[in-house]
Amino acid sequence: MKKLIGLKKTKTAIFISGTGSNLKNLIKFSKKKKSPISIDLIISNTHNAKGLKYSRKYNIQKKVISFKNNKLAEEKIFHFLLVKNIKFICLAGFMKILSKNFIKKFKGKIVNIHPSLLPKYKGLNTHKKAIENNDKFAGCSVHFVTAKVDSGKIIMQKKVKIKKGDTIASLTKKVLKKEHLLYPAAIKKIYN
Ligand code: GRF
Repeated sequence: MKKLIGLKKTKTAIFISGTGSNLKNLIKFSKKKKSPISIDLIISNTHNAKGLKYSRKYNIQKKVISFKNNKLAEEKIFHFLLVKNIKFICLAGFMKILSKNFIKKFKGKIVNIHPSLLPKYKGLNTHKKAIENNDKFAGCSVHFVTAKVDSGKIIMQKKVKIKKGDTIASLTKKVLKKEHLLYPAAIKKIYN
């Protein structure tokens, strides 16, 4: 991807459905001089996403789009992305699956963070699976989004050791900490 550091930052939208800790972290990152992205739009599929509060806190426009009708939802999102001249999309805990058609329009411009060492444990309950399988490590991955869920090219990963006595909650906390380091690092890697 084109090197943009020092030039204008790439206008980016973050898609969320929940807490938004990665969103908050990416907003903070985006404000750094060395960040290749600026965060210009927050998209959520639900009003219940706690992360929506960062819209007001950081003065970033938000749009809540119902996915009752997926096609319509994607059309609306596409419209807002065009209006804001968005060139890059980060999925951060976004719980809806985007269609092939939508992904095609932003080919190579949509990334996702997933709480496992992909290709292991696509989908949900990743930490539970890692503990149940007595894995030595858990972790997180940032990857390009393709039509196949959690299957696009991996950009970067970070590992954490699973210790005796680790629970889903303790692992979630440890991995999330790593996610907050990983997502900005992966974005820098894309733009360098
Ligand atoms: C993270 O664990 C991310 O990897 C997964 O969903 C969670 C979102 O957390 N895709 P948050 O909303 O960013 O706090």
